[in-house]
This record gives sequence, structure tokens and C-alpha cells, in this order.
Amino acid sequence: VKLGFVGGTGIEGRGLALRFAAAGAEVLIGSRSPERAVKVAAEYNAVLGAESVRGLENSAVVTSADIVFLTVPFDQAPDAVRSILSTVRPGQVLVDVTVPLSFQSGKIEYVEFPEGSSAERIASILPQEVKLVGAFKELPAHVLGDLGIVLDCDVLVCGNSSEARDKVMSAIRLIPTLRPVDAGPLSSARVIERMTLLAVLLNRRYKKKGARFRIQGI
Ligand SMILES: NC(=O)c1ccc[n+]([C@@H]2O[C@H](COP(=O)([O-])OP(=O)(O)OC[C@H]3O[C@@H](n4cnc5c(N)ncnc54)[C@H](OP(=O)(O)O)[C@@H]3O)[C@@H](O)[C@H]2O)c1
Repeated sequence: VKLGFVGGTGIEGRGLALRFAAAGAEVLIGSRSPERAVKVAAEYNAVLGAESVRGLENSAVVTSADIVFLTVPFDQAPDAVRSILSTVRPGQVLVDVTVPLSFQSGKIEYVEFPEGSSAERIASILPQEVKLVGAFKELPAHVLGDLGIVLDCDVLVCGNSSEARDKVMSAIRLIPTLRPVDAGPLSSARVIERMTLLAVLLNRRYKKKGARFRIQGI
């Protein structure tokens, strides 16, 4: 499977690109700057000890990838989506990882959107034929990015197309020990994005960095 990351040059893109590449997926990281994408891909390959990540301009990533992850800041996501709209194919699966948290001088603020969640806000600017799936919202990027950490947790997957959710869950199953959990419609992102806020608050209280979730009983 060929996975693309729009804004794959940030910490979240890094973590996902490293995990998926280490699991054998073909990984394309995108940037607004093709030069930056190539440079950062070389950094990821150095960590992996293999030439498994390629860097391209964002639109070229969207053209080539089977599944496209949007790994950009939540407040930049609408702009980033608009910049790839003419390249996205009908039926293509987009994965939104955004969490509407702003960190201003040490204060955490959860940003409310009239659509209910950052995922639904992004969906509102996408054509209906493009399937948006939310995933990886509640898993810390630095946990993903440290290949020495065993992923002993779940990742909640939501979206209005069950076919698209299945496709993303199949890709997630490539990553050893990480379990995808089907969280149903995209509106579940309202809960999941707030779970991330909880994880951040728990990290602060316990002076940790890696709070993550495991659902028992299913
Ligand atoms: N940090 C975590 O633990 C964590 C956990 C779960 C989810 N997330 C989510 O992951 C997403 C990415 O987080 P991050 O910390 O990796 O973000 P980041 O480093 O601030 O940004 C990621 C990349 O987005 C690109 N970008 C920025 N503005 C853009 C724009 N207007 N149009 C297109 N691309 C743009 C940049 O790439 P170029 O300059 O190379 O184009 C940048 O390297 C966020 O939505 C965050 O909520 C983070």
C-alpha cells in the first residue's frame, strides 16, 4: 500500500511515516516545498536505515498515494485541503489526524468549531466523493516517532464510509501491536479530539509525555 502524508515534514508526519515505513509500506512525504520534502525524507531514511521514504511536493503525493494523511496543524488544514483539492481523486481516502488544541504560553485551549469537530470542519470543504477518515488523533506523535516504544495501545478510527474506515484500519494493522478500533461515524471525532485534550492534561498532571488509550472489553 502506498501512503502519502501532506505536511509529512512535521513531528506527526515523522512518527506516522517512520512507523508505516518500518512496517513495509511505501511512504511518500509531502511538503509545500519539494526541496524540504526530499531533505526530510533523507532524514527519515537515515533513522530507518533504508531508502523507504520518498519526498515530494504535496500534490504529487496526493496523485500517487492510495491513502493520503493530512498531517498539518488544525488551523492550517482548510488551506492545506484547498491546495490539494484539484488533485484529489473521487473515492480517494483522506485521513485527518488534526486535533483542535492551541498551546499559547503554556495554556491549553480546546478550539470549538460549529461543525462539532476539526474532522467535520475539514469534511465540510471536501467534495462528497472524497472519503474522510479520522485516525491517530489521540496517540502522541513522539510515541509514534520513537521506534523503540512498543505501541501497546489502540487507535480510534472514525468516518462516514465503512469501506474507507476498513481501508485505513487494514493499513494500521500493518504496524505491529497497534490495534485499530472502529469508532463509527465521523461525528465520533467530537469525542476523540477531546480524548486528546484529556491525554494532554493527564501528561501534565503525571509529568509524562506518552499517555495513550487502550479500550478494554472489545
Ligand atoms: N503532536 C502530537 O502529539 C499529535 C498527536 C495527534 C495528532 N496531532 C496532529 O497532527 C497534526 C500535525 O502536527 P505537527 O505537530 O506535526 O504540526 P507541524 O509540525 O506544526 O506542521 C506539520 C507540517 O504542516 C505543514 N503545513 C503548515 N502549514 C501549512 C499550510 N498552510 N498548508 C500546507 N501545509 C502546511 C508544514 O509542512 P511544510 O512546511 O513542509 O509544507 C509542517 O511541517 C496537527 O493537526 C496535530 O493536531 C499531533
